[in-house]
Amino acid sequence: MSFDIIGNKGKAVAIVEISKGENEKEIAEEIMKKHKNVKSVLKKVSERKGELRLREYELIAGDENTEVVHKEYGYYLKLDPQKVYFSPREAKERQRIAEQVRPGEKVLVMFSGVAPIAIAIAKKQPEVERIYCIELNKDAHEYAKENVRRNKLSHKIFLIFGDVEQEAKKLNLKFDRIVMPLPFGAKSFLDIAFDCLKENGIIHFYSVGDEKDLFSNGLKEIEAAAKKLNKKIKILNMKKILPYSPRRWKVCIDFSVSS
Ligand SMILES: C[S@@+](CC[C@H](N)C(=O)[O-])C[C@H]1O[C@@H](n2cnc3c(N)ncnc32)[C@H](O)[C@@H]1O
Repeated sequence: MSFDIIGNKGKAVAIVEISKGENEKEIAEEIMKKHKNVKSVLKKVSERKGELRLREYELIAGDENTEVVHKEYGYYLKLDPQKVYFSPREAKERQRIAEQVRPGEKVLVMFSGVAPIAIAIAKKQPEVERIYCIELNKDAHEYAKENVRRNKLSHKIFLIFGDVEQEAKKLNLKFDRIVMPLPFGAKSFLDIAFDCLKENGIIHFYSVGDEKDLFSNGLKEIEAAAKKLNKKIKILNMKKILPYSPRRWKVCIDFSVSS
């Protein structure tokens, strides 16, 4: 059994992975007894799926209302884990990205969810010029609007509801940095990212790698896109982020692009 807690000291939801043979009621009671802020326990009943990267859950204890305000690194994120993608385990990775952003940068976060990456960046680097976010899940977009307001970042973060495929081009801007947090689909958007990036701009590209050869999938995808568009890439960093599934890891490749 493993679990995540999303929320704050007043109200939180526990998300539990229960193995065969384990007693889910006992596990839920134990979690709620130990963590008094946990008001609902959700059991994972499917993998993440579809474009919106949602999974199915079953409420095994507590309140049906699973909307919470999660707190990490001093900022707040309102969300319902049943309606949007969110992983509290990625908080450190958000900080890793935020730490790299320099004053005056214009940043694009594709696939931005409830805006945790944009908010982490704007909090860490208040002199960022502007962060643009594009998200396809209407619920996530609505939470993102509230989160940007709640963290007093409306002057820094611009949120767009829609598909990166169309919306990135419409912006007609060139970015210093583009974050691509869609491990299984980001490769289809690399041409758009290359197109929207300034000369020597940086891309943070997420993918999933086999534990024996973590980065080769991602590297192949980046190299193929660069070749197609006649661009040069320079790998800046390759990072193992979190386990994705048995023997596979979510990884991030940071690279710059020039003509
Ligand atoms: C892995 S989640 C990451 C969400 C967020 N960046 C985070 O770190 O919590 C990927 C997100 O991309 C969104 N998405 C998937 N395809 C998209 C597309 N073509 N255009 C915009 N958003 C998309 C999904 O709805 C989902 O919220």
